[in-house]
Amino acid sequence: MPEFPAGFVVGVSTAAYQIEGAVDAGGRGASIWDTFSHTPGRTRDGDTGDVACDHYHRWAEDLALMAELGVDAYRFSVAWPRIQPDGTGKPNPDGLAFYDRLVDGLLARGIAPVPTLFHWDLPQALEDRGGWLARETAERFAEYAGHVAARLGDRVRRWITLNEPVVHMAQGYAWGTHAPGRQLLLDALPVAHHQLLGHGLAVRALREHGAAEVMITNNCTPVLPASDDEADQAAAAVYDAFHNRLFNDPVLLGTYPDFLSAGLGDVLRDGDLQVISTPLDALGINYYNPTKVGAPPAGADLPFEMRTIEGVPTTAFGWPVVPDGLHDLLTGLRETYGGALPPIYITENGCSTADGTADQFRVDYLDSHLRAVHRAIGGGVDVRGYFVWSLLDNFEWAEGYSQRFGLVRVDFESQQRTPKNSYHWLRAQLASRA
Ligand code: FCB
Repeated sequence: MPEFPAGFVVGVSTAAYQIEGAVDAGGRGASIWDTFSHTPGRTRDGDTGDVACDHYHRWAEDLALMAELGVDAYRFSVAWPRIQPDGTGKPNPDGLAFYDRLVDGLLARGIAPVPTLFHWDLPQALEDRGGWLARETAERFAEYAGHVAARLGDRVRRWITLNEPVVHMAQGYAWGTHAPGRQLLLDALPVAHHQLLGHGLAVRALREHGAAEVMITNNCTPVLPASDDEADQAAAAVYDAFHNRLFNDPVLLGTYPDFLSAGLGDVLRDGDLQVISTPLDALGINYYNPTKVGAPPAGADLPFEMRTIEGVPTTAFGWPVVPDGLHDLLTGLRETYGGALPPIYITENGCSTADGTADQFRVDYLDSHLRAVHRAIGGGVDVRGYFVWSLLDNFEWAEGYSQRFGLVRVDFESQQRTPKNSYHWLRAQLASRA
């Protein structure tokens, strides 16, 4: 591993619905992912997160895997329906107790806990009241954040509010490929605003409970125009606004790109942008690949069209592998936001590979992306840490168990965990740090 500045954090990342299972244990309420995955035709092979990696019962074994790996930090998510089964009201003691034990277990092993408060598993009861299309959900989210912080805030230093609000908006509400499965296309825009408002309100709630460091995790992608043609360039700029700037500008600058602000109409109220731009201690970035975009055919529903990036390796998922994209993304953020850009953590990066423990592809992927981060730091971008997605093979949303992102193989029949070559590689890298 290249030599990172002192204190650079290396961790692994997971999310509640993707690993916990035990969907009826400890008073947990239903989430939109329970409903979605149990609806025929929504996920590959009808897979659900009912059992997943059974991490809810096997968390101690998973902590031992992390301790052995030698990571500095663990990014996990808190399942809102465990804390508030109906999305509102008094917190559920059993739900809080689970994360309480997890945090203590991490600290006892010298691993810093980094909880994400929302990684897409909205309580179904809130979806029934409009989900993130409803402004009220933003307020409920801040209340929930306050409950979690009141319990864990004495031991958790670093918090993440939302995971990838762009993906939740696009896949969940615009295309309908993720829960809650709505197909609103451009009418999904209020979902962006209400998530961001919820984020801003939650930042304040977390700080009231003594949170030392708060960030949001945005999925960012460098957008490559399909050609030099004006129409392709314009389509790329529009896509960049929807995917990247819609979520970074309001948080860092307190503004929306003009045409998106107009598109929000009276969903955007006076004072909202002040809440959303409450200063952050850091920005979380999830990076997987760049996106090539061209002009759409006449009469298309959307003002852009995705194109294939040719001539590069692809992961088992078919995602293009472009480590330079991570470098360019980081230096691009620095150019765009200058002094308004806080320190950055890469909160997810990784790849899916064919099943098995011989995953040299993942070793090469992680090695090349860590080097890209290192070069960006050398070029003056303040990156403080890097989290691998993911510790374990897990429930990859609509793809079910078909996409394996883990450093550790999981046999979903027996629940046996087997470290892959990439785990052994990362362990050696971490052990050799100065
Ligand atoms: C990200 C999600 C994460 C995982 C990876 C592969 O978009 O945040 O839960 O599914 O992709």
